[in-house]
Amino acid sequence: MRGLRDRVFVVAGGGSGIGAATAQRLAEEGARVVIGDYSAGNAGQVAAQLEAAGARALGLRFDMVNEDSVRALMAAAVEHFGGLDGVHVNAADVAILQSDTDAETLPMEVFDRTMAVNLRGHLLCTRHALPELLKRGGGSLVYTSSASAFMGEPQRLAYAISKNGLHGIVRHVATRWGKQGVRANAVAPGLVMTEPARAMLTAEQREAVLGISRSTRLGEPRDIAAAVAFLMSDDGEWINGQVMSVDGGVTMR
Ligand SMILES: NC(=O)c1ccc[n+]([C@@H]2O[C@H](COP(=O)([O-])OP(=O)(O)OC[C@H]3O[C@@H](n4cnc5c(N)ncnc54)[C@H](O)[C@@H]3O)[C@@H](O)[C@H]2O)c1
Repeated sequence: MRGLRDRVFVVAGGGSGIGAATAQRLAEEGARVVIGDYSAGNAGQVAAQLEAAGARALGLRFDMVNEDSVRALMAAAVEHFGGLDGVHVNAADVAILQSDTDAETLPMEVFDRTMAVNLRGHLLCTRHALPELLKRGGGSLVYTSSASAFMGEPQRLAYAISKNGLHGIVRHVATRWGKQGVRANAVAPGLVMTEPARAMLTAEQREAVLGISRSTRLGEPRDIAAAVAFLMSDDGEWINGQVMSVDGGVTMR
């Protein structure tokens, strides 16, 4: 892909799953990558693997709900690699999903935590990335939404609200800073076979998801990583304010 070599990217929530795959793909394209994650161990491990493969990478602990921590993550990219060209804003509290029920029963602390990480945290990343992107004449912000934002599920209400909220951030940033070279887009994955998903889902559940798709297989983290890398790259330079479904055709809009 054009325009990724030597660029500097932060993957916020890059310690595992889709974020780790994105960090790897960006590194394979020749970019320098800062991996931020709540899990310092995972962030460091992903960075070490990329460095062992010849890339330049840095792994840091950060907490998406803490503004000072978000600010420090963006500052670290500038300090270590001289600037910032894009952020994959990816972290979500997925552990809380099992308590994320419906409008009648959803515990408000689950709602508040979901908003704090999946929505407020994404705004904080946006706020602290933008000044650095603008210094370089623009850059790319890519958020991880979900097919759940469109599906109208009977459960996971807070999750769906948070992911729909991200679309508001995307359109706002594209409109407010597009003329200054900033692009903001989201990818909306369908079910992706991360390690926990692989361990948790029964064969029947996998078949059911495959059955509602228009694809021969389920999603892999690399499928989402490829879309994020494209949106970060110069090949995606005329794409702004969009939510791109990467879900094997589960949703059609
Ligand atoms: N896996 C799927 O099927 C799927 C489908 C649609 C959307 N998504 C979205 O993809 C993104 C990545 O999910 P994943 O499946 O790779 O899960 P994951 O749990 O592997 O990745 C999420 C990462 O975010 C980090 N994180 C969580 N809270 C944080 C915080 N407060 N501060 C910093 N980091 C924090 C976690 O430590 C983890 O590394 C999420 O936004 C999720 O909603 C996943």
